[in-house]
Amino acid sequence: MDVDNICPFTPRAARSTASGDRVLYRFAIISDPHVALPETIWQNPRRFHLVEVSIPALEQIFDHLAHLNLDFLLIPGDLTQHGEPDNHRWLARRLAQLPYPTYVIPGNHDFPAVSERTRTTQAQFVRFYRAFGYDQGHRPYYCRAIAPGLRLIGLNSNQLSADGTAIDGYIDEEQMAWLDRTLAALPPDELVIVMVHHNLLEHLPDQGNHVLGKRYILENSDPLRQKLQAAGVQLVFSGHLHVQDIAEADGLYDLTTGSLVSYPHPYRTLALREDGDGRLWLDVQSHRIATTPDWPDLPTQSRDWMGDRSEPFMRKLLEHSPLDLTAAEIDAYVPHLRHFWADVAEGDRAIDYPELPPAVRAYCRSFGAIAPNGTPHRRDNHTSLPLRRPTPWAIAPAPPQSPTTRRERIDIRTKIVKESVGLS
Ligand SMILES: [Fe+2]
Ligand SMILES: [Fe+2]
Repeated sequence: MDVDNICPFTPRAARSTASGDRVLYRFAIISDPHVALPETIWQNPRRFHLVEVSIPALEQIFDHLAHLNLDFLLIPGDLTQHGEPDNHRWLARRLAQLPYPTYVIPGNHDFPAVSERTRTTQAQFVRFYRAFGYDQGHRPYYCRAIAPGLRLIGLNSNQLSADGTAIDGYIDEEQMAWLDRTLAALPPDELVIVMVHHNLLEHLPDQGNHVLGKRYILENSDPLRQKLQAAGVQLVFSGHLHVQDIAEADGLYDLTTGSLVSYPHPYRTLALREDGDGRLWLDVQSHRIATTPDWPDLPTQSRDWMGDRSEPFMRKLLEHSPLDLTAAEIDAYVPHLRHFWADVAEGDRAIDYPELPPAVRAYCRSFGAIAPNGTPHRRDNHTSLPLRRPTPWAIAPAPPQSPTTRRERIDIRTKIVKESVGLS
């Protein structure tokens, strides 16, 4: 069966807005859903991720997205709690039923060796998600045209230990060489988007050097960034950090999306829009899950959940460079910072603790939505990013899909998933 049949070049027709702008493509991002069926939930009082909400939150989002006439959905990794095959199977089956194509990549949580019983190998992952980007053999990365004028590169940033456990964020040499060949062969009339689990750009102050932050950014982010910039790539979508943030370096954006199972339980809807002057924009909107049957006031409950578990993390932040505080100082300041990480995760928050000493206060402030010159800078959740338009651009929006076409594609995806999960 040809998987290309499930995502042929038939996007929704371009939609005109009242201002004369045209929405060319509409899509969504859900990151780090950490799917956990109830019977698979790891019971540990120190567990940081509120995986209990993963499935009810996903269902709410799917209900919302069903009304948006989406062209595609992206999920940049950490699809499951701990790589449990049962959780991967549930997700693959559920994604098959959606009326739009979904593209996924693996995160570090998709390969951990919690036990032999729950291990998912890289080869199994590729097979599970054959209908969601991985139809080109056994490689855990891919490049595919997903719509006229639009190409997606899905990278695998998991460096695995000898036993198959994900240990660091790294694009290996083989994949870098493949990327060189792939980028060199791309037609110039396409807009290229990249999905990678670990961050490409820094989303926290000095993230690449900080003892806490550096495990969230690719070890070889610099050469990858240079490669992508040289190829004219403008959009990278990452996850892993569980924070809402948009970073930019010389026209290259890394939009990292927070986790569905961490405060503030966000997801994003996006539109590629052409304005009346022919300029191209990426419109970004962010949404949050506010309640689930078992978590009626999710923002408050989840913020407290995170606050209850973040003290060890906050102690490390204060203990290490640049603050290098003493144990007594840390004991004094850490109670004030109970909601620090939740505020960072929200994006667009001014973070200020006037009761703390100037150096500590200034360092905390630098994690907030603030520009280098000290002015507020809020574009993590809702913004319009200017893009360079490929010239020429081979976009040719097609008519809307009929319900029959949509049903046929769901049936094809479902059949592929049935074959795939049956082989595992
Ligand atoms: Fe995650
Ligand atoms: Fe992760």
